Amino acid sequence: MDLLNLVTTARNRVQEPVTGLVQILKILGNPRLPVLLALSKGLIEPTYRLAFLASASNTGVLRLLASRPCDLETLAERLAVGPDEKHRLSAWLDMGVKLGDLATGEGCYQLSSLPAKFLAQPQNDAVAAALEEVIRFHVPALLHGPQMLREGRRFSLDDQDGAVIARSTRVVESFVEAAVDQNLERSLPVRLLEVGCGSGTYVRHAARLNPRLTALAIDMQKSVADQAAANMSEWGLADQVETRQGDLRELDVEPQFDLITMHNNIYYFPPDERVETLRRARRLLAPGGKLLLTTSCQGGNAGLEALNLWFHFSDFGGPLPREDELTAQFEEAGFTDVAVTQVLPGEQFRACTGTNAQLALN
Ligand SMILES: C[S@@+](CC[C@H](N)C(=O)[O-])C[C@H]1O[C@@H](n2cnc3c(N)ncnc32)[C@H](O)[C@@H]1O
Repeated sequence: MDLLNLVTTARNRVQEPVTGLVQILKILGNPRLPVLLALSKGLIEPTYRLAFLASASNTGVLRLLASRPCDLETLAERLAVGPDEKHRLSAWLDMGVKLGDLATGEGCYQLSSLPAKFLAQPQNDAVAAALEEVIRFHVPALLHGPQMLREGRRFSLDDQDGAVIARSTRVVESFVEAAVDQNLERSLPVRLLEVGCGSGTYVRHAARLNPRLTALAIDMQKSVADQAAANMSEWGLADQVETRQGDLRELDVEPQFDLITMHNNIYYFPPDERVETLRRARRLLAPGGKLLLTTSCQGGNAGLEALNLWFHFSDFGGPLPREDELTAQFEEAGFTDVAVTQVLPGEQFRACTGTNAQLALN
């Protein structure tokens, strides 16, 4: 399928005896050839690069090569690839060279393209994880959608990789942080419950804004909760934040919280369970306490619509919400002072807040 090579070969062969010229002109005269070439450059190569870069990132190859050029032996050792498989690793790396993301020199591989260099930087980890999310989860939804419908198959939570999602969701970090900035009380101690905490980064943000904050951070996926707990320790927050595996729907704690946050996870709940989920959150709030829910909504960019599609095909969640739906669901769940704000003009990202004006247990 290497169409570029075909053209190059054809061009070279024009130098050869005239006997081949007719066939070459016939091939070049094929009206589909320019279209195939355009598809190769515009669709096929970017897809290969996306897959290669996602893999080179998650295996640590990009970070390693960012620190220094490495030979095949070093890379094989770091990737735990045995001696018998080194030639295959070399073929994989050479594909990276062919695609322009790696280069070779003096027997070593090094980073070549701007995207490879960008993704290798630790501060761009969320983007690297988002690429992985696209290729591992969004693409299968597009690729297998109709077949899954025929077979009655759905994606389950096990088809996701909680660790990758916890990292990739941080692409909207600045939006979520802006919403927390607007809604967190700074002058008094605050008791926070964060539902579906992912990496725990927003609890850390809140604790930085209000050092007298204490929090319970839960995530229903054990691997995610364990990683969040490790992060809290690393960030020096273990005394201030209790982090554990937990599901909002079964959480059995006193209604004590001044603020409950749910960031980027309302679509993990089926639409017909969302009001009950919000009501449950409200019942865990102290009177006057607030729920802050942030979420991407329907009608966003292609990446968001692909996420929306994935949840259409899942057996546990549902589509991204619409803004008017959110408001109605908050009100039905008993919240007062319900408000929805568009965090950034032009983006389908919303922060929805509501107050629990009622006494607990109703
Ligand atoms: C897309 S991730 C977002 C993580 C984090 N809130 C963020 O914005 O970076 C959604 C997280 O919500 C968690 N989650 C979904 N439903 C939950 C529930 N019922 N109780 C607790 N956690 C839940 C998932 O396990 C997942 O880690």
